[in-house]
Amino acid sequence: MPDQESTRRTVVIGNWKMHKTGAEGVALATEIVARLRPGRAEVAVAPPFTALAPVADAIRGSSVALAAQDVFHEREGAFTGAVSAPMLAAAGCSIVLVGHSERRHVFGDGDEDIGRKALAVLDAGMRPVVCVGETLEQRDAGGAENVVRSQVGAVVAGLSETQRTRLTVAYEPVWAIGTGRTATPDTAEAMHRVIRSSLATIAGPGTAERTPILYGGSVKGDNAGAILAGANVDGLLVGGASLRADSFLTICHAAG
Ligand code: PGA
Repeated sequence: MPDQESTRRTVVIGNWKMHKTGAEGVALATEIVARLRPGRAEVAVAPPFTALAPVADAIRGSSVALAAQDVFHEREGAFTGAVSAPMLAAAGCSIVLVGHSERRHVFGDGDEDIGRKALAVLDAGMRPVVCVGETLEQRDAGGAENVVRSQVGAVVAGLSETQRTRLTVAYEPVWAIGTGRTATPDTAEAMHRVIRSSLATIAGPGTAERTPILYGGSVKGDNAGAILAGANVDGLLVGGASLRADSFLTICHAAG
């Protein structure tokens, strides 16, 4: 058997959510760049829109990549408050989160919106990280697997073969985000296997094997290693623990 883990990228993304001004973001990013040890994991930070440009300057020339937390699917026009994929690419982003649970639940993004966002990100030459995950009610009702299968399917079915080569998925159970309640390594691995098998069904075994699947939800320095040990866990999407260099770097270094 080939070592399948080694054929996929390992990715760690710090999602700063609605935290950090430009100056605060520069301070954090500068410290991450200075102290990050080279390793096999690709490391990215996702500041709020207003901090993207200054953080892009702070990480220029380093191995740290710039990610955006969201995007609007149109290229330009009368869409007050929105930011387009070409604008994010021009600001230095190479990765964009789409469908984060806070976008789904606080802002009402549906599967169709998320599919359009993923396409816009790909069209602008960046990589979408499609976030999926069930709520506690859905899990308790036994529906967790169906929820993530349908969230994955809704986006991936609309992508071409080539577009699928640039896809990343993040499994983020809603009940684990910001709650301090992490999925156990076994639960995370089981759900990542479900996602990989639905990728295989929708897009074929090649896409399924190639696509990095990240875990997110109360990842901390002391649980990152155990979660990453899952054969289908290819990286981490980190919220709260990405807001301080110490805790974020511990997690990045746990990823190798
Ligand atoms: P958390 O957030 O690490 O604070 O739980 C994860 C995320 O929402 O990306």
